[in-house]
Amino acid sequence: MVADTVDAPRGLGLAIGYPGGAQWRTAMLNLPVFQDNSVQGFYDRLLASRPVPDTGKPDPTAMAGFLAAHPETVNAMTAIKRQPLTSGFADSTFRGLNTFYFVNANGDRTPVRWSLSPMREVRPPDETSSNPNRLFDSVVRDIRTEPLRWRLLVTIGEPEDDVRDATIAWPADRHTIDTGTVVLDSIETESAGNARDVNFDPMVLPDGIEPSEDPLLPARSAVYATSFRRRAGVAGEAPQVEVGEVAQ
Ligand code: HEM
Repeated sequence: MVADTVDAPRGLGLAIGYPGGAQWRTAMLNLPVFQDNSVQGFYDRLLASRPVPDTGKPDPTAMAGFLAAHPETVNAMTAIKRQPLTSGFADSTFRGLNTFYFVNANGDRTPVRWSLSPMREVRPPDETSSNPNRLFDSVVRDIRTEPLRWRLLVTIGEPEDDVRDATIAWPADRHTIDTGTVVLDSIETESAGNARDVNFDPMVLPDGIEPSEDPLLPARSAVYATSFRRRAGVAGEAPQVEVGEVAQ
């Protein structure tokens, strides 16, 4: 289990259903860019980050070697560190990070990236809290207080924008369309039949949305399926978050 530190990465999975059964599934992170632009890079970063038994920390030589070979990760980590930390899930911006295409009836393909922008005030984290469940406890309390809302923003890429490289943010002045509001007004402990049993495979898309050439997308699709199968095998384990146990 990983403790909720102030800088712990946060994710948000969304599954939007359409008549006829199609779905748009997206797993987003509260990062400005992703750390890797290739599957090999992701794999090598995991290996370099692996804690060494003696120290319980990654081997500094392995990490230095990895970073020397991956300037895109160095740049991405600089952008990630520059982003101010927020207090919890409710005031985080979540981004799909990979590029997709919106395709119209004529087959014209427009590169897009999407994000969820919080509608509540953004606050700095509570540095004094030592609660290892701070993020999940506070999102339970927040939803009990009032529904959480985000704007679902779709950013349109220009021809010069990179569609294959999730470590590179598109320029901030790109045309962005506010497509509507995502509202969370209830929260449940993981259990059979709810979000626990959804595989947030980024290639599950409705007609009109297609994956880009970003190599992370098919890799994510493949590993999420394997991970999903493996965690289905341990589904009898107690959920990590018991909503009913969070004090008011
Ligand atoms: C090569 C790149 C990547 C690999 C290999 C990878 C791998 C994984 C794996 C194995 C899981 C667990 C899936 C499950 O058990 O259901 C996961 C979950 C997740 N990933 Fe990735 N990931 C990658 C890139 C990304 C990117 C670019 C994003 C954000 C846009 C992202 C966002 C998430 C989120 C939010 C979850 C949690 C989903 C849930 O709660 O079910 N990942 N990832």
